[in-house]
Amino acid sequence: MKAIRQQAADILRANDRGGFTIPAAGLYPYQWLWDSCFCALGWATFDEKRAWEELSWLFKGQWPDGMLAHIIFHHPDPSYFPGPEVWATHHDPPTSGITQPPVVATIVRQLLERACDRTLAQDHARQLYPKLLAFHRWLHGARDPEHSGLVAVLHPWETGMDNSPAWDTALEQVPIVQLPPYQRKDTSHVAETQRPRPKDYDRYLSLVVGYRERGYEPEALYRETSFKVADVGFCALLQRADEDLLALAQMFGEPSAEIEGWLDRGRKGFRKLWDDHSGIYRSLNLSTGEPIPVITSASFLPLFAGLPSAEEAQRLVEYLGHWGDEVRYLVPSTDPADPHFEPERYWRGPVWVQVNWLIAQGLKRYGYAALAGRLREDIFELVEGSGFHEYYHPVTGEGLGGRAFSWTAALLLAWPGEG
Ligand code: GLC
Repeated sequence: MKAIRQQAADILRANDRGGFTIPAAGLYPYQWLWDSCFCALGWATFDEKRAWEELSWLFKGQWPDGMLAHIIFHHPDPSYFPGPEVWATHHDPPTSGITQPPVVATIVRQLLERACDRTLAQDHARQLYPKLLAFHRWLHGARDPEHSGLVAVLHPWETGMDNSPAWDTALEQVPIVQLPPYQRKDTSHVAETQRPRPKDYDRYLSLVVGYRERGYEPEALYRETSFKVADVGFCALLQRADEDLLALAQMFGEPSAEIEGWLDRGRKGFRKLWDDHSGIYRSLNLSTGEPIPVITSASFLPLFAGLPSAEEAQRLVEYLGHWGDEVRYLVPSTDPADPHFEPERYWRGPVWVQVNWLIAQGLKRYGYAALAGRLREDIFELVEGSGFHEYYHPVTGEGLGGRAFSWTAALLLAWPGEG
């Protein structure tokens, strides 16, 4: 066990670029929003100062309107596409123009609760609080202007589950614009069978070009986009982060009514995502009003936010149990019984460490400690057997995607203490 923890710490150190951690050398050479949050938890197990530094660097990517960008291009690196020149956001430092799952308030609260150096933690958390609040205000304002309780994502990359089959139908509605010839870099680092397909990539870029042409102006994007989805994963993580933000507000004696309002609204919005017939949550295509038929690992994330009733949680656990009959390792990113399930391709089947960590905490919240333990054991077995990969084959356990991957290493460090 010691050896593997040592290896994990070495990976974080090797991926440290002096204040921020890259997800993986070559494949992802910049700072990513939700990756960095998980990295901070890992750093905190042996260097709390460095953990807080990670978050300070993240907020260098916050826009004046509160948005936190999904990639911050601190130093130019030609090994990644689409880089800063494609996004052309004019922020300093250069950033992408979209966001990613909002776990940062949750991570700040966890860092604070786990801190040995209480003074350091209090100082940093207090200083970050107004920035966290601005980010949440932006999410609830720019992405839910109608106050429906469901916050929209406008690009599959915002979900963090980039090429999930859940986005296929919505993505097909995105017109492919005239793109200058471009060369992907991801497929030079990782086998094509493990990465998104070319037609998806054209649409990802078409969305970026459309947003760039609108100067990333939130109202125009929300109104005119051809891709608008209420992602059950993103919304659940925001709901949980709102809870954590509320706890921080109370700790610091800050006003809390606005946050309580978001939480209330979120609980109501979520009723629209619950499919009582199947006993599962589904994302919603906001452009068409249609529920999305493909079930993915994101459907279990509402547990992390305390959203389901006890009875609904029981049904989710049963659903997950069926997946466990189909694959050796939980939690596959797509329902293994779905025709879209591809056990090797990125978000279309493989197991991801951070998703297991989030779902396991959700299960514990509802008293399913044994199943939470199983999710953790599966991850440890995968990492011990195959190394610190980006994702894993849910049947064979083969390590896939990037290697020496930061969030895999970070969560290996941050998880054992919780049991
Ligand atoms: C991929 C993943 C995304 C992650 C990024 C960096 O784009 O889909 O969730 O943040 O890689 O690891």
